[in-house]
Amino acid sequence: MALVSMIVAIGNQRQIGSSQKPGLLWRVNEDLKLFKEFTKNSTLIVGRKTFETLPKSMICSENRKFRVITKSLLLPNHSNVSTSPSIKDAIQSSQGERIVIIGGGQIYKESLFNLEILPLIDIIAVSEINTNNEGDIFFPEIPSCFTALDTEYFPSSTPNGLKWKFTVFSRNL
Ligand SMILES: NC(=O)c1ccc[n+]([C@@H]2O[C@H](COP(=O)([O-])OP(=O)(O)OC[C@H]3O[C@@H](n4cnc5c(N)ncnc54)[C@H](OP(=O)(O)O)[C@@H]3O)[C@@H](O)[C@H]2O)c1
Repeated sequence: MALVSMIVAIGNQRQIGSSQKPGLLWRVNEDLKLFKEFTKNSTLIVGRKTFETLPKSMICSENRKFRVITKSLLLPNHSNVSTSPSIKDAIQSSQGERIVIIGGGQIYKESLFNLEILPLIDIIAVSEINTNNEGDIFFPEIPSCFTALDTEYFPSSTPNGLKWKFTVFSRNL
């Protein structure tokens, strides 16, 4: 089975999104750049609801493939997008590729709480954004089988911008 990475950006309450308003709860350009860099040349596993919030420019870019998790049989209309009925199926169908799980809430939870999926995850990359912007979709605690490798601190890039830090958690040996 392939090894799998996960990437997420969380606020101070571990909030990642709002069911009332799809899309990110903040805008931190440097973090978006980091997301793009981390997910380059990879197959991204994504929940149907999050997929619907992604910009067209990202979906059409040639250096990412998307496996959209959905119970629906609708066929996607981009050549680099396919659907899978489960996260396990998506991973099995992406053998030999670099796989990154990019959310959202349901997909993160199902990956971290599923004893068939969790052992396949070797890296969890977490941006912690210093914001209390309200959300009602949350990222779970990092499982104890992971340890923080190193943390990079970023000042806000604009006078009123948000401070944030980026930590890579790696599976314990
Ligand atoms: N801050 C961050 O880093 C970050 C990252 C990603 C997303 N987000 C935010 O998270 C929010 C979306 O999260 P969400 O939890 O509402 O939705 P989601 O996880 O993106 O997608 C949920 C959908 O995935 C499909 N799905 C989930 N589990 C499945 C399973 N076991 N089998 C088959 N299909 C399954 C279903 O699609 P169907 O209904 O089509 O069957 C379900 O409705 C958005 O606000 C987004 O902006 C934040």
